[in-house]
Amino acid sequence: MNTTTPKPYLTSRGTDARLIVGGEPFLIRGGELGNSSGERAYLNNYWPVLESLNLNTLLVPVYWDAIEPNEGQFEWRIVDELLEDARAHNMRLVLLWFGSWKNSMSSYVPAWVKTDFERFPRARSASGMAMEILSPFYQANQDADAKAFAALMAHLREVDPQHTVIMVQVENEIGMIPGARDHSAAANKAWSEPVPAELLDYLYAHRAELGDTLKAQLADFDANTEGTWAQVFGDTPAAEEIFQAWAFAKYVDAVTAAGKAELELPMFTNAALIRTGTQPGQYPSAGPLPHLADIWRAGAPALDFIAPDIYFPNYAEWADAYVTSGNPLFVPEALRSVDAAANALYSFGKHGAIGFCPFGIESISGNAARMLAGANEVVAQLAPYIAAADADRAPQGRAQFSTTAPTMTGLLPPTDNQRAPHRIRVGDYDVEATYERVPAPTLADGVINESGQAAGTEKLPAAAIVISTGEDEYLVGGIGVTLTFHDPTRSGDIIGIISAAEGRFDETGEWDQIRWLNGDQTHQGRHIRLEPGRFAIQKVKLYRYR
Ligand code: DGJ
Repeated sequence: MNTTTPKPYLTSRGTDARLIVGGEPFLIRGGELGNSSGERAYLNNYWPVLESLNLNTLLVPVYWDAIEPNEGQFEWRIVDELLEDARAHNMRLVLLWFGSWKNSMSSYVPAWVKTDFERFPRARSASGMAMEILSPFYQANQDADAKAFAALMAHLREVDPQHTVIMVQVENEIGMIPGARDHSAAANKAWSEPVPAELLDYLYAHRAELGDTLKAQLADFDANTEGTWAQVFGDTPAAEEIFQAWAFAKYVDAVTAAGKAELELPMFTNAALIRTGTQPGQYPSAGPLPHLADIWRAGAPALDFIAPDIYFPNYAEWADAYVTSGNPLFVPEALRSVDAAANALYSFGKHGAIGFCPFGIESISGNAARMLAGANEVVAQLAPYIAAADADRAPQGRAQFSTTAPTMTGLLPPTDNQRAPHRIRVGDYDVEATYERVPAPTLADGVINESGQAAGTEKLPAAAIVISTGEDEYLVGGIGVTLTFHDPTRSGDIIGIISAAEGRFDETGEWDQIRWLNGDQTHQGRHIRLEPGRFAIQKVKLYRYR
């Protein structure tokens, strides 16, 4: 079938990559459905909730075992119904390929793969015990997965000329546990063999820009380095993790390339992150983690980027780590607490993210739902400005990467784990922020809310996106943040406020003023304040005086 709609694509392979859909920049205001919530008969009940959240994209799994119940025979009912329903509700889709691996395990491989463990070998523990994890060291496993994934992409090429599906995640939270590597016969053989020249050449060619952890592991590395994995990387669990990451990456690369050969959409893979204090083997190891980004990039060039599933409270630290390791930020899974709303604003403002998506989105409720809807509304209205801006992207508390000032940042309050810098350069001025988090309106006594806290103890989020839109002009959107502006050159000039107005951008992008704010709301010209408890957008005009 001839497609008239242009294919979705990414503008680059770098941290600044933008997703283009239908020829326009597209920010994914997404939500990932629970693993078993994407079928028509079940999902039907949840469209009203999903529509109330100002989402534009749903992330939904496609199960290998459901689409290929018998080898070579495909069954597309679930996929086709999902496409129809998403279109009917004006929603785009990111499909998640639950193929060989789902949260380390291989629970979604078809019965004909599961039961034929001679033909499709399993990974084995150090003691030789078979696990329900397909081994990435066997060609038969890779070929079977690649064939099924290619069939899915070929089917989409036929049935989705309008590109309801805008990106695809290949596999889900790949990782080895317990033990950092596979001990199957093929894996043991590979472990004792030399590190492939393909990897060594890549690491040597990119030695200047390798991540810090890998650089430290390769202290004595030079053009002549060769040897077994233990000789090159050390006989440690960390070396075993690199070995396993290379095997996973090569396998995922083959699956991804087979899919892209049928329909070239942007593709990525996601990681379960590392719980503090755990070592390789104690967390799902060897997945697309920031300290392994170079190994994944070397092994899986068909992937466009790697992505974090961020459930931990130090959200900014993990988001920053993926960008520092050379990826654009896309968060396919995030905790659906009240703070999701703040993390959304941080992701788009600080990193110009491709998208942000809380997990189990159909089950969101209460303040978390209300806040997320508010944050998504701000992102939707500011989308053209976010897409055009040069995002800050520096890890929190550190100087920006480049010498040219960014024209946009995202602000999150400091937490125990992440200290926000007090002053951040945006456009011509430094912005200083303070935060107000007010208690959430209480539910009935004893009710436990989304964050698991008792009602009344939960605090509403504080966060903002700040965009410099021209000389002395800013757009700010968010909740619970007070801003003052300062001259970074320390010229002695004071930066005053000519005006601040709250308003909204309508569907055509026109600014509709809601109210003029030059009195108490700006503390008579001293600051810009986004009230706590309510999302708002303000247009701000500044000037200098002495
Ligand atoms: C992360 C996984 O990627 C999801 O599929 C799901 O299992 C969630 N964890 C559950 O919290």
